[in-house]
Amino acid sequence: MSKGLFITFEGTEGCGKSTQIKLLAAQLQAIGHRVRMLREPGGTPIGEEIRHTLKHSEHNHAMTAEAELLLMNASRAQIVREVIRPALAAGDMVLCDRFYDSTTAYQGYGRQLDLEKVKSVVEFAVGETKPDVTLFLHVPAEVSAERVRSRQQATLPLELQRDRFEEADRKFFERVAHGYGVIAASEPQRVKFINGAQPVDVVCKTIWEIVQPRVPKVGRW
Ligand code: TMP
Repeated sequence: MSKGLFITFEGTEGCGKSTQIKLLAAQLQAIGHRVRMLREPGGTPIGEEIRHTLKHSEHNHAMTAEAELLLMNASRAQIVREVIRPALAAGDMVLCDRFYDSTTAYQGYGRQLDLEKVKSVVEFAVGETKPDVTLFLHVPAEVSAERVRSRQQATLPLELQRDRFEEADRKFFERVAHGYGVIAASEPQRVKFINGAQPVDVVCKTIWEIVQPRVPKVGRW
C-alpha cells in the first residue's frame, strides 16, 4: 500500500501558518504530488460545525476548558478517520493547519488542564495516526499580537469577527508559547523549530529544506 506524508503546522496566532501551507502545497504539486490541505478544528462537515461552536458561536462564552478539550478532539477523531487515513493510504501529501500539539499547547498549557488527561484524550482521538513531521513556526508575542490586530481589522462576515480564542488574555498566550517550546524540545526528531518572524520566502525555503528529503519521488522528479 502506498503511503503519503503527514505534515502538521503549529504555532501561536499570526505565526504565518496559512501562508506557508499554501506555498508548500504549491511546491509539492509542482513535483507531481496530490496534496490535501486541512485545518483543525474543522476540515470535515462535522468538524466545521464544531469549529464554529468553539470559535464564533454566540453561546460559547460559557464553554468550560473540559468541553473545549473534548470538542477539539471530537473534530480530530472525525477528520482522522474521514479524511487523513484514507488520504495517506492513497499516497497523498496531507498538510494540516494544527493537530494535536495545539491541544497540548492550548488546552494543556494554556487552559492548564492536567497534561496526562489531555494526552489520553488525544490518544483516543488519533489512535496510531501521528504526524511524520511538524513545522513549528515561532514568532515573538508582539509579532503575534500585531498580526492578530491587523487581521481583526480586515473585513470579515459578522459571525466570523468574534473569535473566542483571540479574546484570551496575554498570560494565556504566554503559557501557550511556553507549551510549544516544551513540545519542540521534547520531540526534536518530529517537531522542527522555525523562526516565523523571518521574511516569507526565507521561511518557505527553510520549510522546503526540511520537507524535501522526506518526500517520496514521483514521475520524472
Ligand atoms: P485558527 O484555525 O485560526 O488557528 O484557529 C484555531 C484556534 O483553535 C486557535 O486559537 C488555536 C485553537 N486550538 C486549540 O485550542 N486546540 C486545538 O487542539 C486546536 C486544533 C486549535
